[in-house]
Amino acid sequence: MEIVKVNTTYQYYLNPDLSQIDWDNVLLLFQKINWKYRIADELKAAFKMSTSTLFIYNQGDIIAFGRIVGDGRYYAMLADIVVDPDYQGKGLGKYLITTLNGILENYHFVNLTAAPGADNFYKKMGWKKQTTSFIWPQGPKQLRQHCEKEE
Ligand SMILES: CC(C)(COP(=O)(O)OP(=O)(O)OC[C@H]1O[C@@H](n2cnc3c(N)ncnc32)[C@H](O)[C@@H]1OP(=O)(O)O)[C@@H](O)C(=O)NCCC(=O)NCCS
Repeated sequence: MEIVKVNTTYQYYLNPDLSQIDWDNVLLLFQKINWKYRIADELKAAFKMSTSTLFIYNQGDIIAFGRIVGDGRYYAMLADIVVDPDYQGKGLGKYLITTLNGILENYHFVNLTAAPGADNFYKKMGWKKQTTSFIWPQGPKQLRQHCEKEE
């Protein structure tokens, strides 16, 4: 795998060979932040279908990752922006966002769905609330967490 950035502490891999990824490690991180249960094989397939992936390691362990789902030219969505809680607050989230977003210059639409509690993180990174986006809620939880209240 090609390392894209090295500092004394962590290793950063952009678009690594996904067959080298320890998907149980990825699953563990999703579990640590209490995101909806995922299945290792499905996760691997979903990352493979992504336009770009970015992984950050500490001594062989994955401690953060993120990806872009896009068409390669016009539309792109940042997804699965995750930093291990033990490593949050060290600038890794900012690195994920700025690096992935940096790949998307000249795209027509770049967006993401913020997890509850992450609004101000994205605002701090310069992202704007989109007034024109719509969601097809995948159940009552999404309706509650991501949708405007209807009169
Ligand atoms: C949200 C998340 C990615 C932030 O990662 P992180 O590595 O802790 O963030 P950073 O250390 O890069 O923080 C960058 C800046 O954002 C701020 N920040 C971080 N999380 C924040 C939050 N939830 N709300 C407001 N500000 C936040 C930091 O204080 C820091 O500010 P500074 O530049 O003034 O010091 C991480 O907390 C996480 O993985 N959470 C669980 C999953 C999630 O919610 N993902 C994002 C939604 S899709």
